[in-house]
Amino acid sequence: MKFQKATTLLCAATFTFFQAKSQAEQAFIKENLSFAVGHLENMAASKDIEKLKFPRTINKEGKMISTSMYDWTPGFFPGSLWYGYEFNKDEKLKATATSWTEQLEPLQTFTRHHDLGFMMYCSYGNAYRLTGNESYKKILINSANALSTRFNAKTGCIKSWNSFKSWHGDKTYYFPVIIDNMMNLEMLFFASKVSGDPRFKNIAVKHAETTMKNHFRPDYSSYHVVCYDSVSGKVEAREAAQGFADNSTWARGQAWAVYGFTMTYRETKDPRFLKTAKGLANYFINNKSTPADHIPIWDFNAWQKGYQPGKNSNASKVPVLYRDASAAAITASALLELSTYVPGAEASRYKQAAVDILHSLGSPAYRAPHGSNGDFILEHSVGSIPHNGEIDVPLVYADYYFIEALLRYQKILDGKKLF
Ligand code: GLY
Repeated sequence: MKFQKATTLLCAATFTFFQAKSQAEQAFIKENLSFAVGHLENMAASKDIEKLKFPRTINKEGKMISTSMYDWTPGFFPGSLWYGYEFNKDEKLKATATSWTEQLEPLQTFTRHHDLGFMMYCSYGNAYRLTGNESYKKILINSANALSTRFNAKTGCIKSWNSFKSWHGDKTYYFPVIIDNMMNLEMLFFASKVSGDPRFKNIAVKHAETTMKNHFRPDYSSYHVVCYDSVSGKVEAREAAQGFADNSTWARGQAWAVYGFTMTYRETKDPRFLKTAKGLANYFINNKSTPADHIPIWDFNAWQKGYQPGKNSNASKVPVLYRDASAAAITASALLELSTYVPGAEASRYKQAAVDILHSLGSPAYRAPHGSNGDFILEHSVGSIPHNGEIDVPLVYADYYFIEALLRYQKILDGKKLF
């Protein structure tokens, strides 16, 4: 009898503990999302963004740097606005998101680089998901068509850039594929689902298979650039572009890989992709170079013995171990999704790793107060140290994936499906 009473009390105490924890986490998410919306509204009202340009980062004086729509990042600010609207259902925010998104319409036929998934799926993809506007669906299918023109059956992948000049000398490659490219596949999967045309999905699956074969080392760390010979289809070189060295692991590259393979598993349910996603995620979250606050150094091997930057790279001239909040935010979002595809302790481990990252990013160490940081939410990201660009700055995509991760976390706590 006594034992039964003690067990009942213990159960009640455990329940109360988890309920209180869940309420605290709900409050954490709401506070961060409301705070993020404040930043987004300030940015949308800012006079510092030139007409027809899209926010990206700030310069040393703290002034906004925006880009044309043809850069790889114009979809992130519209996408963040849509996430803000998803959170608070504010019609004014929806109108702002709509107007920023619709500026990108000309990109539906853009074929000059591979980033169309980032540009169009983060903007129009979210717009379609939240409004069901049929004209957006058509634009996304056209965009998938444009992206597909960069697929080459011989190499089995989508060409990222039109050329890539090695850091080592004069060699230039003409079929470079970067790990980031995995992110563009989501729009192809979407286009097949809504159009009924399997071609887009087939390209996406082939690209993922080729990437799985050529882009990873046995420990699931990733190369950034794999250069192919488009005639023979063979790999010519594996090099660094934004990472420290050819044989090192660029943190954001690894983040794109975790996210890309988790999403590819969602779309295919092929266990090979899940195995890869888990291997990539484990490499990221178990890495010993990451400091106690869970935000990685910009490259997992920067300045370690045995890693040597190419002679034309700026990487070895920047001796400070900068963090990359963007890599952390992308990975947090991916890990939350991954946690829904695996059982028990594994799920808890991925979810907890994501939550740890989010709590760090939401702390004053990374989250900028309103009225500062050019109205970007997060500080301390890195664009490209080898190119001596965007070092320890806010980046529009760090904010996008931070907000996305918070929304995913909210859905998980509410017991809702992510997809
Ligand atoms: N996709 C380019 C980058 O991550 O910097």
